[in-house]
Amino acid sequence: MTLRIDVLSLFPDAIRQYASTSVLGRANERRVFELHVHDFRDAATDVHRSVDDAPFGGGAGMVLRPEPLLGTLETTPGLAHPVIALTPSGRTFNHELARDLAGLTGFTLLCGRYEGFDQRILDVGVDDEVSVGDFVLAGGELAALCVIESVVRLLPGALGNDESSVHESFADNLLEYPQYTQPAEFRGMTVPEVLRSGDHGRIARWRLAQSLYRTMQRRPDLIERRGGLSEQEQDVLDEFQPLDAPRANG
Ligand code: ADE
Repeated sequence: MTLRIDVLSLFPDAIRQYASTSVLGRANERRVFELHVHDFRDAATDVHRSVDDAPFGGGAGMVLRPEPLLGTLETTPGLAHPVIALTPSGRTFNHELARDLAGLTGFTLLCGRYEGFDQRILDVGVDDEVSVGDFVLAGGELAALCVIESVVRLLPGALGNDESSVHESFADNLLEYPQYTQPAEFRGMTVPEVLRSGDHGRIARWRLAQSLYRTMQRRPDLIERRGGLSEQEQDVLDEFQPLDAPRANG
């Protein structure tokens, strides 16, 4: 089934253009998802086609008025639900939420600009608010594209046969193990012997050990969230040492 994604934005071409390249472009051609981008300035109700205004109570910046966004939401035929606003005040986006969205028939993303949305837009027209991280973008477009790409690549048929979203960082709440390709030796740095051994059981255990070491070092919060280490995981840590990856700059 085709996932329907609606996006409301003041920069529809930026969304369309990125979505037409690479993985998203190919997935779109294969009808893995369909993208409906709406310029909500088209629903502005005044002669100047204004979408924003000064905040009541004073303060810096401009706020998005309710009429254009709610007008677009309410008059777009077949608009997908739930409606999700991209805002730094939302709950933080992650792989789990990407998986949840990939299981729906569709969803709509609202891209803000300026100082944010009039609260009544969020109260009346929005089901969820999502942030892509603790930093502030100039608008929701890049955040929406992060959400779209991370969701679409999980859909069946989105990736080619030699790409996979199953064995990768966060699929099981661990960071990815180090990967190597040719040449086997580069500037004196050699590919770990185990990866050239042809022993697939040992390779899988080595990879799990390296994922665990990397996650323990860089993201101990992820280890804690999955409730520590299992007995089998302890065993692979005993079997293999952490990799001391040489760095180009020492
Ligand atoms: N709009 C501006 N900053 C954002 C962020 N960090 N996440 C989602 N939408 C945003």
